[in-house]
Amino acid sequence: MRTISIISQKGGAGKTTLAIHLAVAAMQSGLATLILDTDPQATASQWYQWRGGGEPDVIDCAAHALLARKVQQASELGAELVVIDTPPHADIMAREACRVADLVLIPCRPQAFDLAAIEATADLVRAADKPAFVLFMGGPPRAPAIYREARELIEGTDRLETRKVAVAPVMLTQRAAYHHSSGEGRTASEFEPTSKAAEEVATLWTWTRAQVDV
Ligand SMILES: Nc1ncnc2c1ncn2[C@@H]1O[C@H](COP(=O)(O)OP(=O)(O)OP(=O)(O)O)[C@@H](O)[C@H]1O
Ligand SMILES: [Mg+2]
Repeated sequence: MRTISIISQKGGAGKTTLAIHLAVAAMQSGLATLILDTDPQATASQWYQWRGGGEPDVIDCAAHALLARKVQQASELGAELVVIDTPPHADIMAREACRVADLVLIPCRPQAFDLAAIEATADLVRAADKPAFVLFMGGPPRAPAIYREARELIEGTDRLETRKVAVAPVMLTQRAAYHHSSGEGRTASEFEPTSKAAEEVATLWTWTRAQVDV
């Protein structure tokens, strides 16, 4: 079993959107997949209710002390992939999610305030010493200069020098399909299978599964 943790200290970075899209893509490719919702806001659990249940299962785990045990139980019950959605501004839970992860993804909008806020998250990830990537979320679909600058800021040698984290070569851009589908308990690929958003998710999943070898 593999575990992917989605963390970002910044609120609204796209953690839950990324978690549910990855989990559904994994499920659609035949993997027994589970989302662990560690956010007291319970957004992923709300999505699961709107969905009316089914796969992928979403389990609450708001107590950081229980997280490792829940991951272990998921493995014993036959899960092949666990995706952990975490709350914003939650140091201890984010740390614990890093600790149990095989891969950490850090969604980030390619905007100045969000990029600056990555420093706190990057510190956490480096302390855990796990493979980690910043993944751009919600930026414009076609704006290579914005992504180039954002990437340079994160990977480059300026003020984040001591906090380098790699940037994923895949992203989910700003598309209504992500928002609309989530509000109906679905994902973009389920809602509009031929959309650009569905294409982005397919590319995201192909890259992600190769990172964790599932
Ligand atoms: N790529 C995108 N395109 C369009 N809308 C998006 C995208 N990513 C996220 N959103 C929207 O932005 C809002 C915040 O996203 P989301 O809830 O996934 O962030 P979060 O990091 O989980 O927030 P929190 O920190 O509160 O848990 C939601 O309304 C979501 O639908
Ligand atoms: Mg969330």
